[in-house]
This record gives sequence, C-alpha cells and structure tokens, in this order.
Amino acid sequence: MSTGPKVAELIVVANRLPIHRVERDGQVQWDLSPGGLVSALTPVLRGRAGMWIGWPGSGDDLDVPSQHEGIELRAVPLDDAEFERFYIGFANATLWPLYHDAIRAPTFHREWWYAYVAVNDRYARAAAEAAAPGATVWVQDYHLQLVPKMLRAIRPDVRIGFFLHIPFPPQELFLQLPWRRPIIEGLLGADLVGFQVHGAAANFSRLARRVVGASGTDAVMDYDGRRIRVGAFPISVDTAALIKRASAPAVQARAREIRAELGSPDVVMLGVDRLDYTKGIDRRLMALGELLADGSLSASQAVLVQIGVPSREDDPHYRREREHLEQLVGEINGTYSSVGRPAVHYLYQSLATDEVVALYLAADVMLVTPLRDGMNLVAKEYVACRVDATGALVLSEFAGAAQELRDAILVNPHDLDGLKQAMRHAVGLDPGEGQARMRRMRRVVRRHDVHAWARAFLAALHEGSDNLPSR
Ligand code: G6P
Repeated sequence: MSTGPKVAELIVVANRLPIHRVERDGQVQWDLSPGGLVSALTPVLRGRAGMWIGWPGSGDDLDVPSQHEGIELRAVPLDDAEFERFYIGFANATLWPLYHDAIRAPTFHREWWYAYVAVNDRYARAAAEAAAPGATVWVQDYHLQLVPKMLRAIRPDVRIGFFLHIPFPPQELFLQLPWRRPIIEGLLGADLVGFQVHGAAANFSRLARRVVGASGTDAVMDYDGRRIRVGAFPISVDTAALIKRASAPAVQARAREIRAELGSPDVVMLGVDRLDYTKGIDRRLMALGELLADGSLSASQAVLVQIGVPSREDDPHYRREREHLEQLVGEINGTYSSVGRPAVHYLYQSLATDEVVALYLAADVMLVTPLRDGMNLVAKEYVACRVDATGALVLSEFAGAAQELRDAILVNPHDLDGLKQAMRHAVGLDPGEGQARMRRMRRVVRRHDVHAWARAFLAALHEGSDNLPSR
C-alpha cells in the first residue's frame, strides 16, 4: 500500500476503487466504473483535494494508478486468503444474507471475522495516513463497518461519515451475529451514520441502545462521551446523465432495433439485475410461467428480456442461484416458445451502459421484484430513462425505492398471485394512467438525484461538527 503525505481534505473509503481494469488493443488500462456512487462522488472529490481508498478488485494492485482524472487513489490490496475470508466470506456470506432478511442462512466463521477486522484495520490506517488535519472521511457500506471507530482511535481530529448501501436488519436478525457489539461500536465511531430508509436507521438506533447502552433518540445518540447522528439518506441516480443517454438518437435507434430483433412483440418486459438471490428473479419467472400457462399472456404477444449480471461467482449460493434461474428459463422456453420466438431472452452478461439504457427504452414493463433491497437503482434508472413518460414499473415493496416511487405498481414478491396480477395490470395499463404515474415518478428522480444525495449527506455531516469535542 502506498503511503503519502497527509494531504486529502475529503476521503471516500469504499470496498472498491472507482476504477476498473480493461484491456484495449492488448493494453491494460483503467476506466472510471459506471454507477451512481462514482458519478456522484468523483466531481466532489475533484473539487476538494479528494482521495478514494479502495480495493482494485483483482489480485495484483501494483499497477493501479495513483491518480485518475484528477482524483488521488490509494489501493488497498487483498491477498487470496483475505479475498476468501473477508470478501466472499464475512462480507458476502455472513453480512449480506443476514442484512437481507436471512434469505439465505448466514454463515458465521471466526476466521472470516478475524479477516474482516484485519482488512478494516488496513483501510482505517490508509485513511489515517492520508487525511489532512480536520479532513472529512466518508466510509461506504457493509464491508467497512469497523473503520469509523478504528479511524477515530488514530485520528480523533477527522470528521467521519458512514453510509450503508444495503438494508440494516431488525433486532431479531442482527442479534444472531456473534460480533454484534464490535459492529455497533464500529459504526458509532462515525459522527453521522446514514441509511437508505428510516426503518433501517431506527433498527440501528434501537440496537445501539440495546447492545452497547447508547442513549438518545432514533436520530441523535450519545455514546462514549460523543454525539452521533443517525438518519435516512436515500441514494439516487445521475438523472441528468441518464436522460442525456436516453435522448441520444443512436440509443433510441438501438431501442427500436432491439424491439425489431425481438420480433416486434406487443409487450416487452424487462428485468436487469446483478444475478443475486436477493433480487427475486425466480419469482418473476415463476409468475410469467403461470401467466403463460393460464393463457393470460402468450409468447407470441409478450416477451421477457432478463439480464443477469455475473456477480460473486466464487460463492456457491450464487452458483446455485444461477443454475436455478437457468433451469426455470429453460422450462419456460421449452414449454411456451416457438422457433424464433422465445418467451424469455436471458443473458448472463454485463452490458455496456448505453445498451442497458436502450433496453430500458425498449421495455414497456420493467420488473423489479427483490425479496429485500437497500434501494434498487435499476428502478430509478428505468424511470429516469423513460423520457416520453411511457412505460410501467412493477416494484417490490421490499426495495428501498418503493418508499419514494409510490406510483409504481407495488407488489409483495412472495405473493405469486399478487405478482401475476401486478404483471397483468402493468401489461394492460391504461396509457393515460401510465403516463400520469410515470410523470410523477420522474419528478421524484429529477428532484432527488445522486448529486442531491451526496450534498445532503455531506451537509448533514458538517452540520454535526459543532458537537465534536475535538473541534
Ligand atoms: C451492492 C453493494 C455494493 C457492491 C455491489 C456489487 O450494491 O451495496 O457495495 O459494490 O453490490 O457487488 P460486488 O460484490 O461486486 O462489489
């Protein structure tokens, strides 16, 4: 890990760096990663002598640039054992399922926990070394929940924010965690702890009172002689950038071409997800299978395009989920497709952003049916891209986005009959009602984009600075 002078005024600490390795003409290069977090934070970092600390996402960090497009980068390496125990293990097989309603049984291994502590410590030290006096450090997500306390122990002068991108579970589940106390204490090391929705913030505050005896309300807590603020900061998308892509003639032409390639069906339904067992992809496939079976839909009239972006393939749960979904797709296509007209077009691929935007434009109905999701930015992306205000969104009640996108067709994805009804409703939606709903949802994502999210969090973090004894 490179160490440098204490220069950064604003530091983002996240599991992943905002760049990823690409090969072009046989040459290794680094590109800015797509996604809301990167597009929101990179301009803020550029304007404020900023730095991003994170893992480059592959074994060898030696050739990671120390700067990219005006942002200082510090790579935190993980060796193979840490990749297994910290990333695949504790982050994604302990915390991820536990925080997502234990949809899969979380696995508790002490070796994974030790690796989590060691890696969090490395991130905290990297931030401590790089932060200018009185700097602001913004720690991201479930991989790094111990960093706030660890960093404060070395650098009590810095202002520390933490934001959790995934759900924070209710007490009944969180209390299973053998390391519940150090995790709560770790988070309480921050000055501001942010969550996607109020319910998650309230879960955390209650647990902080119960597990470590913090006092105060759901919004302001006192612990260890310090004041910690807690709140909901729902993340969003880069709406203007998506509108620009969706308005580009080439992307619109590609959307028309996609519909033609699908055989110009009456209705195109779409799912775009990281292939993850939390996303409820099997629910929507089962519902579709039943709608085709009972004749509510016919494959000559309606098709589903399902993109499954490869993810965490080293975890057996993800491999099994892929097999399960591919079997379901095979069963539906085997039964209801005809030659040249599959009912489900399934791609296990990561697509370029413009291709995804073209798919959003080509889709009459977007299916977002997670069993639990911190926010779900695909739902907001679809809304942002529907520049002519057409299209229908079927959205799980258990996605954070459902709290803002009240004009979606909301569903409980566990309720197959309800999901079938929602899909029928979306397919047959009256155009006037559809446009009115979509216009209201578009107002939500225009007013509250990812830049507003970053501003709101950083403003709240700075407001709280009066309460810091060290300042
Ligand atoms: C979720 C998490 C992110 C994570 C992303 C992709 O959205 O909140 O922190 O980066 O999934 O997962 P991966 O394991 O590939 O980083």
